[in-house]
Amino acid sequence: MDQLFDIKGKTAVITGATGVLGNEMAREMARRGAKVAVMSTTRERADKLAEEIKNQGGIAIGLAANVLDKESLIQARSGVMEAFGRIDILVNGAGGNDKAATVSPDFSFFDIPADALEWVFNLNILGTIQATQVFGEVMVKQGKGSVINISSMNSYRPLTNIVAYSAAKAGINNFTQWMAVHFNQNYSPDIRVNAIAPGFFHTKQNHFLLVDEKTGEPTPRARQILGHTPMNRYGVPQDLLGTLIWLASDASAFVNGVVVPVDGGFSAFSGV
Ligand SMILES: NC(=O)c1ccc[n+]([C@@H]2O[C@H](COP(=O)([O-])OP(=O)(O)OC[C@H]3O[C@@H](n4cnc5c(N)ncnc54)[C@H](O)[C@@H]3O)[C@@H](O)[C@H]2O)c1
Repeated sequence: MDQLFDIKGKTAVITGATGVLGNEMAREMARRGAKVAVMSTTRERADKLAEEIKNQGGIAIGLAANVLDKESLIQARSGVMEAFGRIDILVNGAGGNDKAATVSPDFSFFDIPADALEWVFNLNILGTIQATQVFGEVMVKQGKGSVINISSMNSYRPLTNIVAYSAAKAGINNFTQWMAVHFNQNYSPDIRVNAIAPGFFHTKQNHFLLVDEKTGEPTPRARQILGHTPMNRYGVPQDLLGTLIWLASDASAFVNGVVVPVDGGFSAFSGV
């Protein structure tokens, strides 16, 4: 069993690695002996995380990478290849929503500016596709690799208010399937692309939706979320790690093009 889930010595690239979920995923892969290339929009933040991982006995490098800037991804790829010589795992962890693209009582759907919509679409969709182009090219040369995208509960049935984010995450599921087929049919049967769809994790990105700014109390939306989560709690980043290691390792060798919900049962519950 241990060998099945073994990722020791593999090289993992994590975009958005200094985010709440990416950070935890990078640390866990390093704890299991993977060489991790942690990427952030600034070199300083990436280096800080890499240092922390190294201080805990892991192998890590920090690199700056803006997933919306292909040139910066290509430079980051050179850094990984120089340090580790290959790329076995790619976690497309950069993503998120923006308040400016979110409907609220004072801000209607009709008021959302195009640049806010564009920012959310680009970060989630273009960022994931571009990073897969750049790091996936190395997997093609190796004939093997595992790409893990980060989707969301929005991707199956949209949640209210977050219009661009919902559409973008639905796009992530579609891209996950598309890319899985494309790699296999054109390059190698051993390159896999899957996604994790986290349920509700209380993080920076969604804090404004879950906690009333003025009272500090849970919003009606937060109560609804927990009411629809049979396990009756938010996820914690550690909840994603088992699925991550499964998808990253040979334990999932015949799993390809799937989106795995890690949601405390949210997507299973009809509400009745
Ligand atoms: N938190 C949740 O409840 C939740 C639920 C479902 C899905 N997700 C998804 O999980 C992923 C990680 O979310 P998180 O909660 O850790 O958010 P986060 O904001 O803590 O992390 C996202 C990271 O992406 C980075 N980033 C932003 N723009 C970037 C760019 N152009 N290039 C490179 N990096 C960039 C940010 O700096 C940040 O470090 C996202 O795709 C998010 O949509 C989160």
